[in-house]
Amino acid sequence: MRFDVISLFPEMFKAAEHGVTGKALQGKQASLHLWNPRDYTKDNHRTVDDRPYGGGPGMVMKVDPLKAVLQQARQAAPDSRVIYLTPQGQRFDQKAAREMAKRSGIMLLAGRYEGIDERLIDCCVDEEWSIGDYVLSGGELAAMVIMDAVTRLLPGVLGHAESAEQDSYMNGLLDFPQYTRPDDLDGRSVPEVLLSGDHAAIERWRLQQALGRTWLRRPDLLEQRELSAEEQRLLEEFIRTHQGASASS
Ligand SMILES: C[S@@+](CC[C@H](N)C(=O)[O-])C[C@H]1O[C@@H](n2cnc3c(N)ncnc32)[C@H](O)[C@@H]1O
Repeated sequence: MRFDVISLFPEMFKAAEHGVTGKALQGKQASLHLWNPRDYTKDNHRTVDDRPYGGGPGMVMKVDPLKAVLQQARQAAPDSRVIYLTPQGQRFDQKAAREMAKRSGIMLLAGRYEGIDERLIDCCVDEEWSIGDYVLSGGELAAMVIMDAVTRLLPGVLGHAESAEQDSYMNGLLDFPQYTRPDDLDGRSVPEVLLSGDHAAIERWRLQQALGRTWLRRPDLLEQRELSAEEQRLLEEFIRTHQGASASS
């Protein structure tokens, strides 16, 4: 996967050199190409912002350097769609991450100030994505969120032990709860089934916990997912136990 990032703060992407993304960048699974519009300015001050037509507070990213950097980057990565990070874009989620992970590359354009000229969006941006309903001061963190979520889905990036398949949202459910040693933590014990060695029972318990957590925390996800007869039975059992426990407390 080839990532091209257009940003006024390329040094922020040093953060991607750590952990899973770092491993993928060192290996063959991902590459990162940084493009700074400031390198495409022609004036002594290397100006990258400009006043908005119509007045008002705030600046807009200067058109000429952005247009020039986009042109160069697109020549270098002609197969990558250009993604503008914006709070006005489509909401990024795990489904989008899975779809993007199938591509050969993506080009992420991080805005600053009040954003970029609308005509640049019209001519040169293929997709607009948001990472949530809040406003960041720049698109860099949003670009890194997308890079991270996509990279961990690339084949060979996560080892078997850290497989993404059981993660929240991968099968329309939240993940089941995790436990590690010690088996007694200040009087709180690990659910017995996890110590039983009975793999089928453990699988069933985990599925039931995933269903139950999703029912408790994100019922909207369950509405979008068809349950098998076994899943339905496990969920009903979870609900009965949960309601029994709440009634007696
Ligand atoms: C201060 S914001 C501009 C917000 C813009 N005036 C608006 O209200 O739509 C500066 C840049 O941060 C990035 N950004 C801010 N919030 C974002 C979000 N939720 N998702 C993705 N990018 C975001 C965009 O690249 C944007 O151009």
